[in-house]
Amino acid sequence: MDVIIQSAGAGRAAQAVADFIAQALTDKPNLVLGLATGSTMESVYEQLVRKHQKEGLDFSRCRTFNLDEYVGLPAEDPCSYHDFMRQRLFDKVNIDPRNTHLPDGMASDLNAECARYERLIAASGGIDLQVLGIGLNGHIGFNEPSSAFESRTRVQLLSQVTLDQNAPFFPKPKRVPRTAITMGVGTILEARRCLLLAIGPEKANIVAQAIEGPLTRMVTASALQLHSSCTFVLDGPAAAQLQKSGSYQHGIPGQSARTSLLSPVGTQLSSSASPRASLRSSPDTP
Ligand code: GLP
Repeated sequence: MDVIIQSAGAGRAAQAVADFIAQALTDKPNLVLGLATGSTMESVYEQLVRKHQKEGLDFSRCRTFNLDEYVGLPAEDPCSYHDFMRQRLFDKVNIDPRNTHLPDGMASDLNAECARYERLIAASGGIDLQVLGIGLNGHIGFNEPSSAFESRTRVQLLSQVTLDQNAPFFPKPKRVPRTAITMGVGTILEARRCLLLAIGPEKANIVAQAIEGPLTRMVTASALQLHSSCTFVLDGPAAAQLQKSGSYQHGIPGQSARTSLLSPVGTQLSSSASPRASLRSSPDTP
């Protein structure tokens, strides 16, 4: 796992992630891109939209798979992740809506929908680059504490920490759905490259646990330690509780994060390492 600390600020950290996605898309126009929601991602999407408008970044052949969606919210609901993605990214770039995928939280058979989503990812050749945020309880996607590292796309009951964290996005806190469909930890670990962005002091403690703590199902982001090609991009406050911050990469203001800090995209996208093999060989895996 690589860790990059962008002390120049949250905007710079988001820019590093947007730069990396843009480079990956340029190198592989039919990129299979895993996307995340949450406030952390908003500035990443703003920058991608700007790159499309000002620099002609082309999404026409890109295929996307979002991590998760609430159960019980129609795609048209302004609180749904479908709507979040349309408003922040899909409606503002030249992506073909038919190439954008999120789980259907309104499916009559939710388990069948989860299986369909897994099949769709596999049929697309697997995810090249998975972008991630992190929940206050260390979740990735909606993989709440105690999720198995081998878990697949499934219905997940949301924890109180997550309900509280996401309540501000709903007009009434009681409207926050109690369940969601999420890619599993195992699904995420199969992406060829993972890129997690965390900003702000409220993430500092859980980020330190995910990066420097033990592998544990209680902090599902710690599973990323098993991935052979995963980078955490942090702003200074989010990195504040790391004990070994001297051994991580630090961003230099004014220098392109893409070229200077993140390892070359081409090799990452073609090297489909097998995190599942790592999982099997790790004696610490719960
Ligand atoms: C939701 C999403 C997660 C995301 C998290 C972070 O819970 N399901 O994928 O990582 O939000 O939210 P924020 O960026 O608002 O802190």
